[in-house]
Amino acid sequence: MSFDLIVRRAQVATAADLFLCDIGIAGGRITALGERLQADAHTREIDAAGRFVTPGGVDAHCHLDQPMLPPARLADDFETGTRSAACGGTTTVIPFAAQQKGHSVQAAVEDYHRRADGKASVDYAFHLIVSDPTPTVLHEELPALIEQGYTSFKIYMTYDDMKLDDRQLLELLEVARRHGAMAMIHAENTDAIAFLTERLLGAGKTAPRFHGLSRPSPVEREATHRAITLAELVDVPILIVHVSGAEAVEQIRWARGKGLNVQAETCPQYLFLTQDDMALEGFLGARCVCSPPPRDKANQQVIWDGLVDGLFSIVSSDHAPFNYDGDSGGKRLGGKEPAFPYIPNGIPGIETRLPLLFSEGVLAGRISLQQFVALTATNAARLYGLYPRKGTIAVGSDADLVIWNTGTPHTIRNETLHHAADYTPYEGMELQAWPAMTLLRGETVWDGEHFLGRAGAGRFLRCDKPEAARPRPRQTSWRRWEGLDE
Ligand code: URP
Ligand code: ZN
Ligand code: ZN
Repeated sequence: MSFDLIVRRAQVATAADLFLCDIGIAGGRITALGERLQADAHTREIDAAGRFVTPGGVDAHCHLDQPMLPPARLADDFETGTRSAACGGTTTVIPFAAQQKGHSVQAAVEDYHRRADGKASVDYAFHLIVSDPTPTVLHEELPALIEQGYTSFKIYMTYDDMKLDDRQLLELLEVARRHGAMAMIHAENTDAIAFLTERLLGAGKTAPRFHGLSRPSPVEREATHRAITLAELVDVPILIVHVSGAEAVEQIRWARGKGLNVQAETCPQYLFLTQDDMALEGFLGARCVCSPPPRDKANQQVIWDGLVDGLFSIVSSDHAPFNYDGDSGGKRLGGKEPAFPYIPNGIPGIETRLPLLFSEGVLAGRISLQQFVALTATNAARLYGLYPRKGTIAVGSDADLVIWNTGTPHTIRNETLHHAADYTPYEGMELQAWPAMTLLRGETVWDGEHFLGRAGAGRFLRCDKPEAARPRPRQTSWRRWEGLDE
């Protein structure tokens, strides 16, 4: 057996195991796991002795170069966003091709390929966002796109340019069920947000921190419950994205208790930020404005508990980077410091996702290394039809690896990150872990100090229909009784 690269004496972590071995790589794939693999004249070697090696991260929720409602404009395109991903140990990203109302989903997909092509330095797939589910979209476009490898879509229950009503949600869930796609739900009650926003503004409460009060936990709880109920009626698995706290968690636990297939995602902002970060002096709190908003310490603990006990399948970044200063498309809208409803929603985090969770999750003793791998790579690959090509360390998988430096403290500083945003909400945090090296298909894209990847080296990935999107046979399905499933 001949190898292009051997990673020697790695402490390999998968979602199931931890074992010491050499990793043999040829043609960008793992071709052997074993002891004392044989090198030949052209084999490169990396000594990973004493280091943990995990699968390259799969960030299944990030926004790169996604057109926004003006004037908001994302700071990262595919070049800067995937560069940042690689330097933080993420080798696969799944951002969103967003349908614009009045346009086709196909047009969004074509436009998004143009944005990614020649720019991405890590591999990428696309989720779809459906904002205008016309009969053509439901019965022609989506079925065709799902067959072509776009096997997941996000449904928004809020945001004026994206939101769908319950009837539309049901129609889309039915498409997911019929064609085997994974439906991701942004669960917040849009009318409640509009009502509360109006009352807050009427009382002169415009500062960034009021963003949190315009979207309190019941807003998320109600929408989460409604999404679960609508999915129950259609009998289809769903995934609730960016779950922020206890009330939504309770709904998901309740659904699981009923035997419903509800998956859940959370994000570092709900583990590491709180509402106090939106109340920083002046306008600084705008840097942590995202939706759903960060809650309080007690809610943070509930999210950590959900990682530990398996409530959450994935931790994604929800990287939605806006500049803070001097950018008309950023948080301050070019110095205007708008009232909270006009602050672009979202925070950067594609590079810090893995190190935050490795340091504060694994090394702080909250979760196991195997849980870390499952939450940051394996489960995302499984949920979105990329497993086992992505998300694990196994013979036949792409050689996407992170070799960890866990010896030296690493302080997060925006100036050392590689995104294009001008701040990180985690500035000054001291972590005990950072990637010493990231490999994409056997090529070093981050060496611990320098980005070594290449814009355009990232490949587009067609996703299989995820096993996780398949409805479970259930005794209680009224659809089956009524013959609707035939
Ligand atoms: O505030 C957020 N999360 N912005 C990104 C868009 C979304 O809803 O995920
Ligand atoms: Zn969302
Ligand atoms: Zn998002």
